[in-house]
Amino acid sequence: MNRIKIDPERTSGHIDRNIFGGFAEHLGRCIYGGIYDPGSLLADKEGLRTDVLTSLRRLQMPLIRYPGGNFVSGYRWMDGVGPVNERPPRSELAWKDMETNHFGTNEFVGFCRKLNTEPYIAVNCGDGNMREAADWVEYCNGTGESALVKLRRQHGFAEPHRVKYWGIGNEVDGHWQIGYKTPQEYARFCTEYAKVMKWTDPNIKIVASAISHWEAGIVERTQLMLEQAGNLIDYLSLHWYVGNWNNDFAEYMTVSELMEERLSAYEGLVRAMSLEKQLTKPPAIAVDEWNVWYKTRTKESGGPTVNKLEEIYNLEDALVTAMHFNAFIRHARSVKMANIAQIVNVIAPVFTKKDDMVLQTIFYPFELYSSTCGQTALNVWWDGDSFSSGKYSLPVLDVSATLDKTGKQLVLYVVNRNQDKSAETKIDLAVGRFAGKIRVCTINGPDTKAENTFENKDRVKTREHSFDIDGQSLTYEFEPHSVTSLICAIA
Ligand code: AHR
Repeated sequence: MNRIKIDPERTSGHIDRNIFGGFAEHLGRCIYGGIYDPGSLLADKEGLRTDVLTSLRRLQMPLIRYPGGNFVSGYRWMDGVGPVNERPPRSELAWKDMETNHFGTNEFVGFCRKLNTEPYIAVNCGDGNMREAADWVEYCNGTGESALVKLRRQHGFAEPHRVKYWGIGNEVDGHWQIGYKTPQEYARFCTEYAKVMKWTDPNIKIVASAISHWEAGIVERTQLMLEQAGNLIDYLSLHWYVGNWNNDFAEYMTVSELMEERLSAYEGLVRAMSLEKQLTKPPAIAVDEWNVWYKTRTKESGGPTVNKLEEIYNLEDALVTAMHFNAFIRHARSVKMANIAQIVNVIAPVFTKKDDMVLQTIFYPFELYSSTCGQTALNVWWDGDSFSSGKYSLPVLDVSATLDKTGKQLVLYVVNRNQDKSAETKIDLAVGRFAGKIRVCTINGPDTKAENTFENKDRVKTREHSFDIDGQSLTYEFEPHSVTSLICAIA
């Protein structure tokens, strides 16, 4: 029998809603043909796909990062503002494409407003410079009478966009990046960019591009950034992508440990450096690109790509999405932002074709966590059946729990990583009792390889039921290969 013990008084941190962020890049069909598709019958008068907007609203993303990604390291933002027919098309080096610039800053902010989400802009720290970066902040947020502010007004935006989150570059630690930077170079660039951007608008929050290449220079990069720009940086960004590389379910399910190892190590590093450098406010962690991405990588190696990064997800990928949120909740004290990469068509939960769309398997755990997660993380204990793969022997269950603001609504999230067996589990409250109805939401499908397709859209989805309970413990049987949330009042 598996066991989970929850003590509502053992809280482990405030959960920032920004862990439910998204990311949209000028890449393949994410923007053009995804978010923005003026030729589609489903487009609104701004050219935005209404079916995409409706689905994204269900995810309740508090912020969306834009415009890249690798794309931003060669992007000139001025190309993407002003009358659309006067914008210059440019060859795009990161993804070897042609950028029409029909969609740019103002269109992105308009898209965010329709979703009730905050825009988060990453600036070009590849082949760009700090003047362009500060100008972009001024164009968006300025209120005075400068030429850039007047230009924005002339473009139809009298009020400032008030963009709060600004990232300095993207994956500058990777040799694949236009304008790769050594740790020393980035620390210098980041300091100067952050300085002039915050001089332009002191209210903005700065996200430094920290680690995406996990095999080299993690400590040195972080140390130099914090030494030089520690008091200017609000977030340090981490990126990762995972996948079932060897088509081995058990091995894939140990990915929870990769997240644990990276988050624990990195939060320790930031805390140690912040202590040493006596930073007034240690930067938070922003995992501002994360997802499953591997199948389309192998397809691409053969030659030119047609459908760029159009990953089709299955149930096991949905379990891994849920494990990401469990990890972010367990590390709520330091992880204050996370952005699934990406949101439409390109490694994304929402997938379109000309006149139709499908919600991929990974859509459902995102929706479930985003719509039910409380504000406080709990330090929950669990144990029971285990599975082994490589160096790991882990419980089949992967767990997190949250409380709402009142401390009266508990949500328990459980991923059962057993491929064949359900997991009978005794759940105990250390203090108080379960009172009233328990709402149960379960994400599952016929088997771990099940996908949602245009022909069969609902193979993997969320089902709900409820039952009455009054007592300090309960026993629940978690279905094989499933994600379950138990939402209940406690008294
Ligand atoms: O999201 C796809 C790409 O993955 C991004 O452009 C880049 O930042 C990362 O390597």
